Amino acid sequence: MSQRSFVAWARESGALIEVERPVDPHLELARVMAALDGRPVLFRALVGCGDWRAISGVCAGREHFAAALGCTVPDLVHRMAEALAHPTPPPVLDVGPCQEVVEARVDLTRMPIPRYHPDDGGRYVTAGVAVIKDANFGRNVSFHRLMLLDERRFCARIVEGRGTHTAMDTAEEDVPVAIAVGCPVQVLLAAAMSPPKGVDELGIAHALVPTPLVRCQTVDLEVPGEAELILEGRITHALAEEGPFPDLTGTMDVVRRQPVIEVDCVTHRRAPLFHALLPGGMEHKNLMGMPREPTIFDAVSQVCRCTGVYITPGGTSWLHAVVQIDKQHEEDGRRAIWAAFRGHSSLKHVVVVDMDVDLYDSADVEWAIATRFQADRDLVILTEQPGSSLDPSAAQILGQKARTAKMGLDATAPLGEDRQGYVRVGYESLDLTQYGLKDKV
Ligand SMILES: Cc1cc2nc3c(=O)[nH]c(=O)nc-3n(C[C@H](O)[C@H](O)[C@H](O)COP(=O)(O)O)c2cc1C
Repeated sequence: MSQRSFVAWARESGALIEVERPVDPHLELARVMAALDGRPVLFRALVGCGDWRAISGVCAGREHFAAALGCTVPDLVHRMAEALAHPTPPPVLDVGPCQEVVEARVDLTRMPIPRYHPDDGGRYVTAGVAVIKDANFGRNVSFHRLMLLDERRFCARIVEGRGTHTAMDTAEEDVPVAIAVGCPVQVLLAAAMSPPKGVDELGIAHALVPTPLVRCQTVDLEVPGEAELILEGRITHALAEEGPFPDLTGTMDVVRRQPVIEVDCVTHRRAPLFHALLPGGMEHKNLMGMPREPTIFDAVSQVCRCTGVYITPGGTSWLHAVVQIDKQHEEDGRRAIWAAFRGHSSLKHVVVVDMDVDLYDSADVEWAIATRFQADRDLVILTEQPGSSLDPSAAQILGQKARTAKMGLDATAPLGEDRQGYVRVGYESLDLTQYGLKDKV
């Protein structure tokens, strides 16, 4: 689903908020985005930015992904797992909307690249999907935040060990790159996944929803034809200071020396939509956490019957998960805990619940912990584990994976006769219209 189709869907479903008043990309845009976090917002006019518009909150709700993929919210995990297992090569077309306009001269400063927070290192592109080709592994597609340096250059945050970093490490020359902004929803989802090296994220996107590509103008790369904006250029071996910038956790990430990207060509749609993604907001959270749910689901399914996985927003959508199982053996809860940690290596805390618990409802999960869990019997604690670089409480060691303790709570009820005392009492439903109360609830 292209971002324009998303806008049409959001408008029709009543979810879209449209801001008519011109908004300044310098700090004001982020403040409006933060105040409306969780909702899709179309900014119809931007101060000093010609016919550019901005969109935020494209991925801020799970129902947005469900609409894009044509499925229900609980089915998303299965659709992602299926696409991860069976990527399909996308077609490459001769023309695409993302090349409707080819800029005669590159001047990045004229674009509505926002400054999000007064303490930020600069203006940032936060929804840029970088396409590169690795000499050994082929195409890699990944998010990299980009700090604007000047008319033609960005400094990119490129996390060590990730696909883009590996490709740069083995290349002596500059690495050609195409950065797509305003990507179709399925491309955003696929770009946030970490499939095994050599698996093409655009193939995953195409397996989710048809995603035709077009060839770039100046680099030997293909990009999603329906993207709003394409920045073609090179990742150089020059370094500059990147940051500070807010991270997923809502805390400030530090300044690092990071690679400089030089942009040689800019193409875009007419009256382009600039996708602005609020760091630490719901869109960032969903894109980080959701793609780990199928990998946890897969790992848990290898040891017991897994029926659902939810990476919770309260756990920064990265560090906490709830795993739901159809318990068949007394050991299934513990097995699921170990497997969940294998399925997402940055996971820190996991709660395992039965099928009668709504894994999306934190009060229901807490109910299961309150009524089914005993700490001296059902708690698994692991020490000195590889952890997340995003967790400020983990031991961060430069150049190495962070070290952390991990905890798993088996909040499933026992099997057999003992289960009886754990079943929730329910009341029979009735028709409230008979009491004249239908409109009260
Ligand atoms: C919104 C968003 C922003 C991200 N920003 C960065 C970033 O600035 N640098 C980075 O290296 N990874 C970033 N990531 C993470 C990678 O895109 C993601 O983990 C990706 O799956 C890595 O894939 P790879 O291992 O195949 O390269 C971001 C992810 C999301 C969802």
